[in-house]
Amino acid sequence: MDVMRIEGGNPLSGSISVSGAKNAALPIFAATLLTEETCVLENVPNLSDIRFMAQILEYLGAEVEQTDPTTWKITAANISHRAPYNLVRKMRASVCLMGPLAGRLKKAEISLPGGCIIGPRPIDMHLKGFAGLGMDVNIDRGYVFLDAIKASGNLIFLGGRHGSTVTGTANVLMASVLTPGKTVIECAACEPEVVDLCNMLVSMGANIEGIGSPTLTIQGVERLGGCTYRILPDRIEAGTFLIAGALAGKDLTVTDLRVSDMTALIDKLKETGVPLQINSENSITVSKSGKPLKPVDVVTHPHPGFATDIQAQMCSLMAITPGISIITEKIFPNRFMHVPELQRMGADIAIEGPNAIVKGQPKLSGAPVMASDLRASAALILAGLVAEGVTWVLRIYHLDRGYDKIDTKLRAVGAVIDRLPEKDMPKDLNPEAA
Ligand code: EPZ
Repeated sequence: MDVMRIEGGNPLSGSISVSGAKNAALPIFAATLLTEETCVLENVPNLSDIRFMAQILEYLGAEVEQTDPTTWKITAANISHRAPYNLVRKMRASVCLMGPLAGRLKKAEISLPGGCIIGPRPIDMHLKGFAGLGMDVNIDRGYVFLDAIKASGNLIFLGGRHGSTVTGTANVLMASVLTPGKTVIECAACEPEVVDLCNMLVSMGANIEGIGSPTLTIQGVERLGGCTYRILPDRIEAGTFLIAGALAGKDLTVTDLRVSDMTALIDKLKETGVPLQINSENSITVSKSGKPLKPVDVVTHPHPGFATDIQAQMCSLMAITPGISIITEKIFPNRFMHVPELQRMGADIAIEGPNAIVKGQPKLSGAPVMASDLRASAALILAGLVAEGVTWVLRIYHLDRGYDKIDTKLRAVGAVIDRLPEKDMPKDLNPEAA
């Protein structure tokens, strides 16, 4: 396994580009199962999760070809309806196979995904949506069995205790586009990644209205055609780089983003006093403020609220912002695995239920820390950029799931960050050394 070694205190300047959005690409890869024609997907981020989803599509029988680092060609002409546990368990987003397989083949047999470190990750709302479409939904031996032979359009409410569901909306949407009749999804997720999926489905011939709103109206069609579709920019990667700039930037320009997808974060960064210059819809220049930032309160909500996927990164910024900031996690209440690791670097953060009470410190100190999930890993990298001394981040395979060469991109703008084999880490610093 590799580790990331970061030397803190180096200013970041220049231009850093944003890749395509992981959380759009994954359901969009699944959506290629809805047609026997060829789909060409562009601006796909080069991530382990993407390569894994490609493997699952191939397992199902699709022809999958990566024609260049960010372009994939997928033809799902003859496909199976069954995805086994040994594949699904490795990546939650494979739950998104259920909708397209049930929509196209009128049956699906997909292993239940299981939880992950940020929470139990139930799929009850996905299954409620499928049942709402008139499918027979059975769970047996850890698998979900869907029989959609009698499926027809219906009114479906997809709100749960934490609000809307992103992949739940994607799943039910992908099932409904080939289901006879009219389907209305109320309390649909409005995340830009769901909008991107809707736009891709429309480009294949789907009939969807209300795109971007909490009410999606779908008229089922007989079949869908292929498409060529460009994935939207990753607003979470972009936000991660904006926070890197707020921590250590000297005129750091983040490019290929979409400002309109990032209103909540931009608003919060302005509130805390980060000098931000919006150059265009696709470019923002950010710098470390010459004076101390102000503490802010953050509450995560479904889009257009503050994204839960940027909460950990915001914790890192508030950890060195004087005063007390309260960060409340409403989507995944346990999503604070980054906190104990930030505490190892000198952060003063107390967890009270879904709240992180952050008392800003004058500095953080480099230390060996353990990545636990994708966004917690990013938070630790950010903290390492400003910590005094060297920070070692272990288990960075979590990072590879959602960030396309983050070390290369940060090094190109001045960070001293290197990806090394774990054996190069000083033995006395490596908690996993034998
Ligand atoms: C998507 O996960 C993203 N993943 C997550 O990003 C993101 O954090 C999350 O949406 C929220 O924005 C992908 O898109 C692949 P949800 P998803 O269904 O769809 C509860 C990252 O770091 N819920 O919107 O699984 C659920 O437990 C990842 O890139 C139910 O109770 O999230 C959570 O509390 C992490 N029942 C809330 O709803 C259900 O059937 C929102 O979950 C479904 C969800």
